[in-house]
Order: sequence, then structure tokens, then C-alpha cells
Amino acid sequence: MKRTHHCGQLNRESVGTAVELIGWVDSVRDHGGIIFVDLRDREGLTQIVFNPEDNRELAEKASHLKPESVISISGTVGPRPEATVNPRLSTGEIEVTASGLEIHNVSRTPPFPIDDVKGDKVNEDLRLTYRYLDMRRPRMRRIFKIRHQAGKATRDYLDEEGFLEVETPFLFKSTPEGAREYLVPSRLNPGEFYALTQSPQQYKQMLMVAGIEKYYQLARCFRDEDLRADRQPEFTQIDLEMSFIDREDMYALIEGLVARIWKDVLGVEVPQKFERMPYVDAMNRYGSDKPDRRFGLEIVDLGDVFAKSEFKVFASTLKSGGSIKAFNAKGLADLTQGELGHLTETAQSLGAKGLAFIKAEKGEWKSPIVKFFSEEEKAALAERLGIQEGDIVFFAADQWERACTVMGRVRLEAAELLKKKGRLEIPADQYDFFWVIDFPLVVYEEEAGRYVAAHHPFTAPVPEDVALLDSDPRSVRGQHYDLVLNGVELGGGSIRVHNPELQRKLFEEVFQIPPDVAEERFGYMLKAFAYGAPPHGGIALGFDRMIAILAGVSSIRDVIAFPKTQKGQCLMTASPGPVTEKQLRDLHIQTVDTETV
Ligand code: AMO
Ligand code: AMP
Repeated sequence: MKRTHHCGQLNRESVGTAVELIGWVDSVRDHGGIIFVDLRDREGLTQIVFNPEDNRELAEKASHLKPESVISISGTVGPRPEATVNPRLSTGEIEVTASGLEIHNVSRTPPFPIDDVKGDKVNEDLRLTYRYLDMRRPRMRRIFKIRHQAGKATRDYLDEEGFLEVETPFLFKSTPEGAREYLVPSRLNPGEFYALTQSPQQYKQMLMVAGIEKYYQLARCFRDEDLRADRQPEFTQIDLEMSFIDREDMYALIEGLVARIWKDVLGVEVPQKFERMPYVDAMNRYGSDKPDRRFGLEIVDLGDVFAKSEFKVFASTLKSGGSIKAFNAKGLADLTQGELGHLTETAQSLGAKGLAFIKAEKGEWKSPIVKFFSEEEKAALAERLGIQEGDIVFFAADQWERACTVMGRVRLEAAELLKKKGRLEIPADQYDFFWVIDFPLVVYEEEAGRYVAAHHPFTAPVPEDVALLDSDPRSVRGQHYDLVLNGVELGGGSIRVHNPELQRKLFEEVFQIPPDVAEERFGYMLKAFAYGAPPHGGIALGFDRMIAILAGVSSIRDVIAFPKTQKGQCLMTASPGPVTEKQLRDLHIQTVDTETV
């Protein structure tokens, strides 16, 4: 079954060569008794010709071939007649005249065509049920090649930078400070559970205490979250940690890493240094901590314009310390009532009371609120937002963070509408990398009635803000950085706390984790830190999200070989699924129906 070439390899220079090829039947065509078979393997397609004038029996056998069957052929490469040359195919100038045919596996008729264009229109559930067929499509093969190349570029670069690849356990301890965990019952320890690692965070910090100095891993992470296009329950991170560094070292390392990946995979040069944007600016200008800056529609603050507003909603918002934010969705005044309704629903789903707007149409402003505005306010608005005929301006009046977030989401949806109407075009090969920095260290969680870590509880405060931990925790900045690309949070990390006293203070005083709970959950870490913990920091980049952007696809399901659906199911293997009573008994587990208890 040895092949002499793969199916993307033969060209004009190969004419006259005797070859053996093996692969899948892509198509079979009968042209007046002459049988043409397109043979496909991982690398490409080659046209095989079975001519009854050479060998009647062989042509007869070939005429019955079923698509997706696995065959091998022997034959001789010849030039295609000039009129049948296919310039879109690497092998388009040649064909192989067959002298032998062996059938290894006869395929059933596949449930959908193994074709880039037609396959993309197939229902995703069907594609996932037959993922092994879906992955035969050239488009999917290209994606998995990109994934491989990006992994290789990562390993090459980090190796050159002196990193050691170290594996860490998946079976970890439950530490419910982050995302919801998957629990695994321990048969040997009745009633006790492991948790699958949400990330190797604590292990990689322990590796720094262990003196590894530079660690990396293409690490699998598990999170029992609600799933979306950019979230999977198990996903991969380029995870790394380094000792004796500061933020600048990390920025330089990661800028070099992504430059290497983009160069090796796409041949694209990215800037040597990425811009840095404070979190507060990102929120004020784009209403998001992962802004898409590839189009304008920037948000502006109107607090000063409406300082003396007659409009009750605006006046009371400002009085209670809130903000008035707006942006001009340029050229979108002709949106439909339905589209406007949808934007309003988006705003409301984020907790806004409404979505006020001004449309500039036929030389006048149409708006439910403009009647409350003075002439000065209108003039200031027109100037600040550059309002012109055909524009629509949206407003949010709310507490600062919500006003920003609402405008940020409406801005993204407005951009989608402008794209749909052909008024906004974002080049596919534009890569806007930048850092978002100066995040708050803590956020107040209403439900829990306490501060929680904005990133994770091991992030170090900015040194000059440490004194504020007692008096004003909200204004303490963390040494946390996020890498953003085209509106996607590609990665995040931080310089860590390495002083056990500061770490204990954060757990117990700032996050108000009772001392016994902190000891039980994180005691081993505090203990390790008491034995010579080096200053250290790290980051994790979402590898699947990175591949999706490199490949130009919108869902990370497309870049994972066997992904789960929105409901966390693998349709190919039908998992999760029930287990037997015996299995449960062995694990000391009983299931109860929470609906009925
Ligand atoms: P974080 O939780 O921010 O940080 O995760 C890092 C990056 O991983 C990606 N990511 C995901 N990708 C797909 N599906 C998911 N469910 C998912 N969740 C996260 C994102 C994100 O930016 N241990 C820290 C890193 C550190 O501090 O070093 C961590 O895991 O791209
Ligand atoms: P009202 O005076 O409540 O009828 O609101 C007038 C307009 O302002 C309506 O279009 C509402 O959708 C909108 N609106 C109400 N509250 C807010 C708010 N907090 N931010 C932005 N728009 C609002």
C-alpha cells in the first residue's frame, strides 16, 4: 500500500512517471465510457483516468466506485488535453492513466457532500455527528494545519527563549474562586472529589517556587460555563509563567510570540510593539474591556453638556453620580423599526431602562427626547458627536460601568448592521493587537456582598496602590494585562503576589474568605510561598480563539477537532450519557432528581 506521491504533488514535470496513489474517491464521472475519478488525500486532488480501450475490465470496475471509498491506483502521469487544464488545481495540468485499482473500503453514501461550499451550508449538528467526514473537507484540513503550525511556532519560540514544557495534573482540588468546575468523584476516597483544572494557575506558580524559572504548556482547561461561539467546556491555552520579571518583560515576550506565530503561519508581519490602553479608557471610548478598534463609532461622555439638563432621566442620573454616554452610528438613521427594537432589547438585557436616540433625517432631528434639550445643549451635541444627515445617535444614562457597557454592545451591533448594509467593511487581514492594562484589582460583588478578584486572587496590586488596600480597595489597580485582538480577549495574565503575608491579607481581609476556609483552600500555596517564592508572573493565551482568528472563522468549534455543542454535548459519541448503578455505587455516588426533591 506504499504511495509514491500524495495527491497534491504531481505536475507537468511528473509527466511520464509511473506512480501509485492512495486516498478517497472525491467524485466519479463517466464521459462516454471513459471513467474519470478525482482521488483525494490530505494534500490535494488528482484526476485518474480509466480508459476502456486500454483495459475494459478495469474501467468497468472503476465505473462502480462509490464516493468516499478508499482506493489505491497505479498508473502513469500524462498531460491533460489543453482544453481540460484546471488552473485552480495544483495538479490541474496532469492526469494519471490507471493500470491498476485496488478497493480498500466501500463507503456508504455520506449524509452530506464533502465539499467546501456545500458543506458549509450543512446544519452544524449534522457536521458534528459525522465530524470525521466534515474534517475531510479541504477547508477543515487547512484549519488543522494552521493549528499545528501555530503550536509548532509556539514551541519553537518558547524553546528558544529558554522555557521548559512541564505537564501539570488535570485532577486538581476544588477551589471555587473562578469559573464553575467539573467535579470528579474519587473511588478511593469515598465522598471526596477532584476538580478538573480550570487552568494550571496554581501549579504553574508552584513550579516557580520549584525553581523552574520559565514554564510553558499547551494546557487543556476545563470550565463548566454557559457556552458560546468563543467558549468551550474544554479548551486549550498557551500557558506560561516566568520568575524574576516585571510587566515590561511579559509584554516583550508575548509581542515576540505572536509576531512569530503570525509570521510562521500567515507570513504576516505584526508591529514590534503593541499599544497599551488603560481599562478606564477602553471602557470610556469603546464600552468594553476588549474593544474592537477596527472601526470608529467611538463613545463620548456628555456629563458636562447635560450638567443643567431639564430631561429628568439625565438630570437624576448625573445627580446620583452616574454618567451620560453616547455614540454616533454614522449613516444608520434608516434602520428599520425592528432593528431599532432589537438594539433597545440589547440595551435592556444589560439592565438599561431604555435606549434614547436622535435620528438626523430630512434636515431635522427625530427623537423622543430632543424636546427636553436647550439650544445650547443641541449645539454642543451636534459638535461633540459630529451629527450629520443620515446619522443616528444612541444614549445611555446610567451608573458609569453600565452606561459604558450598554453603549459598547449597541456599538458592536450597530457595526454589524452597517456591515450588513454594505456601509462598513473591515479588511479580513487587519490584525489590531493591543494590551489593556491598569484593571482594578477587585470588583464589588453585590450578590456576595464582598470584594472579589477582578482577574484571580493571585494577581499583585500595582506597588504604589498597595497602601489603598485598606482605605479604598476599589481604586487599587492590579498588575494585570489582557491581550486583545480584533475585539477578542486573546489572553490575560498578571504579575503575582509572592509574599505570603500580602496573599493572606488579600484572601482574608480584602476578599473576606474566613481564615479556616482560606487555609483549607489555599494553605498549601501560602506554605510554599514561605519557602523562598521568587517574584513571578505569567499569562495564558486562548489557543482556540487565536486559531479561529488566524483561520478567519467565527466559531472556535470550527478549530477544535471534536468540539461540544452549546449544550455541552458531543454528538458524534453521544456524550454525556447515563452510567450503570454499579458504576455509581463504586464511586459512592447516588443521583437524585432535583425537580422532585
Ligand atoms: P483566563 O481565565 O483569562 O486566565 O483565560 C485565559 C484565556 O483563555 C481563553 N479562554 C477560553 N477559550 C475558550 N473557551 C473558554 N471557555 C475560555 N475561557 C478562557 C481566553 C482567555 O483570555 N490562569 C489565568 C491566566 C494567568 O493569569 O496566567 C487564566 O486562565 O482567550
Ligand atoms: P421616558 O422619559 O422614560 O419615556 O424616556 C424617554 C426616552 O429615553 C425613551 O426613548 C427611553 O427608551 C429612553 N431612556 C429612558 N431611560 C434611559 C436611560 N437611562 N438611558 C438612555 N435612554 C433612556
